[in-house]
Amino acid sequence: MRPHTIERQLFSSEQIQTRVHSLIDEIAANSDTENLVMLGILRGSFIFLADLVRGFEQHKIHPRIDFITLSSYGAGTESSGTVTITHDTDMDLAGADVVVVDDILDSGRTLAFARELFLERGARSVRTCVMLDKQTQRTVEMEADYAGFPVDDVFVVGYGLDYDHYYRELPYIAEVVFEEE
Ligand code: IMP
Ligand code: MG
Repeated sequence: MRPHTIERQLFSSEQIQTRVHSLIDEIAANSDTENLVMLGILRGSFIFLADLVRGFEQHKIHPRIDFITLSSYGAGTESSGTVTITHDTDMDLAGADVVVVDDILDSGRTLAFARELFLERGARSVRTCVMLDKQTQRTVEMEADYAGFPVDDVFVVGYGLDYDHYYRELPYIAEVVFEEE
């Protein structure tokens, strides 16, 4: 890890919870909730997905829930080019309306890979939901159907997002400030 500090809080826990509740309403407003499968991409999505699904009961929506681990190799702050499945789901997706959940949309590779994968497996529809939408040049064409907040092209942690596997537990989202070396 490079020397760094977690300084600038970008989104407070309260801001996140408020936004998550409006995303729940948006997802619930779509009619395709009969055969809904919420598919989280590990590990970044675990907190966000848990918050989202707990809002479904009041909408009388009962999704199936599973996770898949995808990695775009590397422990640094740059993702590499290839997405691989390191832990798969065995859930039957034939005819399902899948909502793929991830922490952040950056280059677009991860979500584009997941969408293709689930369509190939017979999902009727695949929508995508991210907490953060990084305002950057996408490597592949990809926009999320549901997005919590836009964020500048800086490195962020918290609410599931990590730096080298740390800081996922923070209830807020903050910028990592790297020290000059
Ligand atoms: P994409 O495939 O480039 O869109 O990358 C998405 C993945 O990169 C996310 O699931 C995150 O794991 C990771 N990522 C991208 N930007 C950040 C960041 O600012 N902080 C932490 N992880 C990030
Ligand atoms: Mg991730």
